[in-house]
Amino acid sequence: MRISAWLFAAALVGAAFGASPSNVTFDRDVLPLLEKNCQTCHRPGEIGPMPLLTYQQVRPWAKAIRAAVLQHKMPPWHADPNFGHFANDRSLSEADVKTLVAWIDNGTPEGSPKNAPKPLVFSDGWRIGEPDLVIEMPLAYNVPVTGIVNYQYIIVPSGFTEDKWVQAVEVRPGNRGVVHHAVLYSREPGGEYAAAAPKGEFFELAKYYKVTSRPKDERMFSAVSEPEHLQVYAPGADPIQLGPGQARLIKAGSDIIFEMHYTPNGTATTDRTKVGFIFAKQPVKERVHTIRINNGSILSIPPNEPDYRMQSQVYLTQDVRVIAFQPHMHLRGKSMEFSAVYPSGESEVLLRVPKYDFHWQMSYYLAQPKLLPKGTLFICKASWDNSPNNPNNPHPEKRVRGGFQSEDEMFAGFVDLGIAPGLADLKFFKDAPPEAVPQIITNTTADSLAKTISGGQN
Ligand code: HEC
Repeated sequence: MRISAWLFAAALVGAAFGASPSNVTFDRDVLPLLEKNCQTCHRPGEIGPMPLLTYQQVRPWAKAIRAAVLQHKMPPWHADPNFGHFANDRSLSEADVKTLVAWIDNGTPEGSPKNAPKPLVFSDGWRIGEPDLVIEMPLAYNVPVTGIVNYQYIIVPSGFTEDKWVQAVEVRPGNRGVVHHAVLYSREPGGEYAAAAPKGEFFELAKYYKVTSRPKDERMFSAVSEPEHLQVYAPGADPIQLGPGQARLIKAGSDIIFEMHYTPNGTATTDRTKVGFIFAKQPVKERVHTIRINNGSILSIPPNEPDYRMQSQVYLTQDVRVIAFQPHMHLRGKSMEFSAVYPSGESEVLLRVPKYDFHWQMSYYLAQPKLLPKGTLFICKASWDNSPNNPNNPHPEKRVRGGFQSEDEMFAGFVDLGIAPGLADLKFFKDAPPEAVPQIITNTTADSLAKTISGGQN
């Protein structure tokens, strides 16, 4: 029965695609794609809702897979392919999409196991190798059966008595089924971030966050007022393994802060996440340091507004090497874009995320780090959808302001920089006036430009 349907479909598809996709089989053509692009999440214990390891598991999902890959919903990857090349790009190529679709349209032939790749071996061990140090959350978090859990924070002293350079960082969730993502920070002694929060117990940031006392043009530039980002963990993402000579700095006496986003999965359960560090064994030539371009405190999105826009722009006061981007907004987040106008007047979009999705906190690692010279205008633009058309929107009827709960909004364009290890002046920007942003690289139309609120750092 399947064979004849397959022959029939093969004739049709052969006509549409040329001869080759018509003999696509699961074992030879499809399984390697699933291993490479899908199984990190679609296997038992991971966040993918169903395992995609065997023919028997995959076959019933054929229709859903066809839709998901044609709409580019799976694998999740949100960078516009027209701008930039990214080392961790996990999107399927057009050829891969064709192969999957042809296989499904041909009636999902299994093929022969002798052509199948070896099953992947998923190790439960550390992917970075044996860590020099493991820090575990001192308590387990009780994840409820259902509902939305606000981000949970827990602070753990590092115990470091000297500055430490870390070359690799791996967050390992205690319970992969419910840890949607985690952000790991270090906070040096005297850091203002959640300074009044208790150590060793879970809390919500909104209660302890204080706007920094530093002068406006010094905020967000220094690791003193901002915690240092160590890793953004998301399922399917790789651990941080910096190149030779690169490292992140954790200063003596720092605290490690876990920011946990839990998604209940229908069963009451617990999680105790840990992080492993490998210290740099070679002299450090480049420090990797995360900054952000943002403007969130003046956010005020009217009810039902489908396209609220903001931008933030700064002049670089020294040369920087950009390594990666992490766009961050909340439930109404719609798009984010990073771009640069060089001192020569040339401009370039560095990353465009046209359809931001809060449920996927992603880092985009440039395939080639990008040098932005002193004097470059560095721009981050974002838009939000507070209309009922946004399926993530809990309350279209409410005005939304900047804040830390998922129901508040945020405008944070995180950027990983490569800087000189001994650099004492961690101030990389000065405010630029909104007029400095040329039309040429704007993605705003004339009429929505009028709505764009613009300013420097908040
Ligand atoms: C980074 C993790 C991740 C990767 C990689 C990934 N998925 Fe998914 N997938 C998920 C999660 C989580 C869901 C459920 C939530 C959602 O739909 O966004 C999902 C949902 C799906 C669904 C929809 C199931 C339904 O209920 O209709 C399909 C089909 C699917 N994935 C196929 C794939 C295929 C095929 C690949 C590889 C080409 C892939 N996924 C790669 C995490 C992933």
